[in-house]
This record gives sequence, structure tokens and C-alpha cells, in this order.
Amino acid sequence: MTAPVLELKNVAKTYRVKQGLFGKPKPLTAVNDVSLTLGRGEVLGLVGESGCGKSTLAKILLGLEAPTSGQVLVDGEEIAGQDRLALARRIQPIFQDPYSSLNPRKTIADIVSLPLRVHGIGDSASRAKSVRETLDLVGLPARVLNTYPSQMSGGQRQRVAIARALIMRPEIVICDEPTSALDVSVQSQILNLLNELREEFGLTYLFISHDLAVVEHLATRVAVMYLGRIVEEAPVAALFDAPRHPYARALLNSVLTPDPAQGVPDTQLGAAYPNPIAPPPGCHFHPRCPFAQDHCKAAAPRSVPVGQGHVKCHLHDPDTPMYRPDFTV
Ligand SMILES: Nc1ncnc2c1ncn2[C@@H]1O[C@H](COP(=O)(O)OP(=O)(O)OP(=O)(O)O)[C@@H](O)[C@H]1O
Ligand SMILES: [Mg+2]
Repeated sequence: MTAPVLELKNVAKTYRVKQGLFGKPKPLTAVNDVSLTLGRGEVLGLVGESGCGKSTLAKILLGLEAPTSGQVLVDGEEIAGQDRLALARRIQPIFQDPYSSLNPRKTIADIVSLPLRVHGIGDSASRAKSVRETLDLVGLPARVLNTYPSQMSGGQRQRVAIARALIMRPEIVICDEPTSALDVSVQSQILNLLNELREEFGLTYLFISHDLAVVEHLATRVAVMYLGRIVEEAPVAALFDAPRHPYARALLNSVLTPDPAQGVPDTQLGAAYPNPIAPPPGCHFHPRCPFAQDHCKAAAPRSVPVGQGHVKCHLHDPDTPMYRPDFTV
């Protein structure tokens, strides 16, 4: 890998949530000890069930939430304490719903040029030129400049959101479900656009998606998240060909039976997704794991290198009684 663009070291985020009107606030660890490294031009697909902590991780990277512990480094520099504006020049988001993230009372020209104005970049003529160039990049004609988001289709609006993210020429783009709100026919156009822009500008993406087929298509590496933890992380082909973690397998099997109404993979795991305020002891996944043994209830698995990736599962840890070399599920 080239020098890492983005590094996460043992990042955690704990919220305090109140249950009921008079309940005492309880800790909810939305992101738990996440360590990841991304090289330039890589696309890390982040997958996992609803509520596992994907968006919380995205918000930490964007500087919208401070981690409770751990470090986030961009180009080797820690982002904690850095100016939000300075960070925004390097990391930009593209969110799921372009309608709610675009101001309905502003024209497309205003929306796309906003980051330049906020950062005091250029004069009005150079900004207008930059806006036209960026709209062209994302495949929008100049005639949309003076229109409003409500006059556009969902796909066009997402192109506007992409233009707004790219006008600052960031290094890293955090895509949180960027195509989930779009019609299937439009989804692939937007995905192709994201892919072309990545190649053209050497962008690095964190790509969050419920749709594993999309992740397989776009990602270079995949991280599988469960209850705040990354349980498996590997190059995309390795993960899809031979998932090592039982949860990764369950997720991949769910590709065959997606439930479009839910938008969430049906993992067919029987037991429900646990309450994050009271996570199961030991390995968080053990109540739903077909391979679980007593050891899994007692001890949390550590991260062990397997192949070109990492897995948190006792079956892959030579120091546990459960170790089964070459276990693929
Ligand atoms: N501001 C907050 N205060 C308290 N709890 C929060 C807050 N934000 C998120 N959570 C909790 O943290 C956990 C992770 O939420 P998050 O939104 O990161 O999940 P997600 O993986 O993005 O889910 P989805 O796929 O539905 O978007 C959830 O249990 C959620 O209820
Ligand atoms: Mg989310």
C-alpha cells in the first residue's frame, strides 16, 4: 500500500442514552476499538446491519463527532483539535438523501459554490468557472445553474451533492449510503460516476452501504462491522470468495435474499440483533453464531491477521482452544 491517507487507531465512541423518562443514562458504545488504514485511491466498503455504527464512524471522520478515545489521522496528522474548516478541505461527505442535504431555497449555483465561499477561495468569476467545470465533471449541464433542487430528479440531486463535495478537491470522500434513496436504474449511473471521479482525481473513499453487490463492485477492501466493532477486514475478492468470520458469511448469504422493503440484509441468523446498551459478553456475536462455544461467551476475540486481512474470531486465533487453521465458513 502507498502511504496511508487515512488511519484510525483504536477509535471508540460512547454515547450516554436515557431509557424512559426517569431512567439513568446508560453508556452505548456505537463504535468500539476500530483500527483501519486506507491508502490513496482505495475504496473501503463498510457493511453491517442497521445500528452497527457505520454512520457514527463516518461522523467521526468528518469531524462532526469527537471520538471518546482513539485517534484519526489524515496524511499522518491527527485530526483532533484541527479546525473543522481545514478538515473539510480534505474530507467531504456524500450522504444518502440529497434532498434533505441540499438547501431547497438555494439555486444549484449557490449550493455548489458554497464551500468555495465559506473557505474564501477565489473571486466570483473564478468561483463561477469552477462551479461550471465541476457540474460538467458530474455530468450536469450548465443550464441547471439557476434551478432549484426541487426541479431536479433524485439522480440529478445526487450529482449536485457530488459536485458540492468535489469542488474543494478533497482527498477523501465519505459516502454514506449514497445511492440507497435512488431508483435502481439511476444507482448504477451514480456509482459509475463515483468510480470515474475516483480514478481521475485519485480519491480515497469510505463507502458505506447496505447493498453488498454495490460494495463488491466498487470497493477495494471491505470492513464488516458488528455492534460497533470491525469483525473482519480484507481485500474485496478475498472477503467475498472466502469470508472467515461467521457473521461475514451470514451477511454475504443475505445477498441472495435481500429485503428491499427493509433496506437491511436479512441475515437469517434467527436471534435478533442485540441491544447495544447491553451487548452480549465475550464475543458480541456469540448468541447468533452457529459455531459458538463456551469460550466465545467468556472472552472477547482479539484481532488476528488472516491472509491479507484481519478477523476477530476465536476460530482464527492460534492462542485459543477453539483455533481451527484454514477455517472458512
Ligand atoms: N447521537 C446519538 N446519541 C445516542 N445514540 C446514538 C446517537 N447516534 C447513534 N446512536 C446509536 O449508535 C448506534 C450506531 O448508530 P449508527 O447511526 O452509527 O448506525 P448505522 O450503522 O449507521 O445504522 P444504519 O444502517 O441504520 O444507518 C445505534 O445504536 C444508535 O442508536
Ligand atoms: Mg447510518
